[in-house]
Amino acid sequence: MTRFLTALEETADRVTVALDALLPRPDGPEMRLASAMRYAALGPGKRIRPFLIMGCGEVLGADERGLLRTACAIECIHAYSLIHDDLPCMDDDEMRRGRPTVHIAYDEATAVLAGDALQTAAFEILAHKDTHQSGSARADLVARLAHASGARGMVGGQMIDMTMGDQSDPDIGIVTRMQRMKTGALVAFCAEAACILAEASDEKRSALEGFVHDLGLIYQIIDDLLDAEGEAQTVGKAVGKDHGQGKVTFVSILGVEAARERAKRLGDQAKAHLNLFGPRADQLRECVDFVLQRRS
Ligand code: IPE
Ligand code: IPE
Ligand code: MG
Ligand code: MG
Ligand code: MG
Repeated sequence: MTRFLTALEETADRVTVALDALLPRPDGPEMRLASAMRYAALGPGKRIRPFLIMGCGEVLGADERGLLRTACAIECIHAYSLIHDDLPCMDDDEMRRGRPTVHIAYDEATAVLAGDALQTAAFEILAHKDTHQSGSARADLVARLAHASGARGMVGGQMIDMTMGDQSDPDIGIVTRMQRMKTGALVAFCAEAACILAEASDEKRSALEGFVHDLGLIYQIIDDLLDAEGEAQTVGKAVGKDHGQGKVTFVSILGVEAARERAKRLGDQAKAHLNLFGPRADQLRECVDFVLQRRS
């Protein structure tokens, strides 16, 4: 695990440096916007989605520069989703990554706008010719990220999250569908993007897609478990909020033990998808263990 943690940290640092160069500098009369974008995107996140893009890309032999730019794009979308998720009209959270959330550090209007601008920054980064020499590959990346982020992906999942508490009898099927959209879609994009960048074969594509499909689900199950059992100081955000807000989660439906069991089972399933790649995919296998064991 130590080797994995070092690799994750190295990727996180590279992405932070690249993002720092890609994001607008805080100057001009709109400087407050660029400052809030930077506060959110350059903050101390785990950068797990960038790691997945780089990791899948490495297994497939994709070009590093395109992978790094795509990693920056997904992190922009992720940072935007978190800013909006924390707003008072959504989860109403004041702490994220161990620091005040964007609407607390700045104000609500700035938080909405910083989220908006991070979202469009992601597509600007992908569409630039440095991301891939082929215009059709770039269009594919843009279309896939738009789909994963939008009404049938992350935003749609967030809508279900906001309204499902009112439903009389939510079941595991609905909660799984919600999580596949709100968290799974962006995690799944990481493998799709690496495959587009590497022009991967159908066989490799479907193996990696199976892998991230399971990993995305595990990611949200553990997030729900951390909300139920973690400590705010370690997790870096308020805990016990899902229950307090009547959210429907894997933990509320299955209970802590069964949710953990399900995550473990999905972990084995996720790793099995990687058999095709042999030892080259060891880091992706370790990523599954990291996600299962994470405390923040
Ligand atoms: C938190 O994401 C929200 C979810 C989608 C579960 P992360 O746990 O990846 O957050 P950071 O980027 O490391 O802060
Ligand atoms: C949010 O899920 C997922 C997003 C699409 C941002 P949560 O609301 O559970 O994420 P946290 O717990 O606030 O990080
Ligand atoms: Mg939420
Ligand atoms: Mg939240
Ligand atoms: Mg959560």
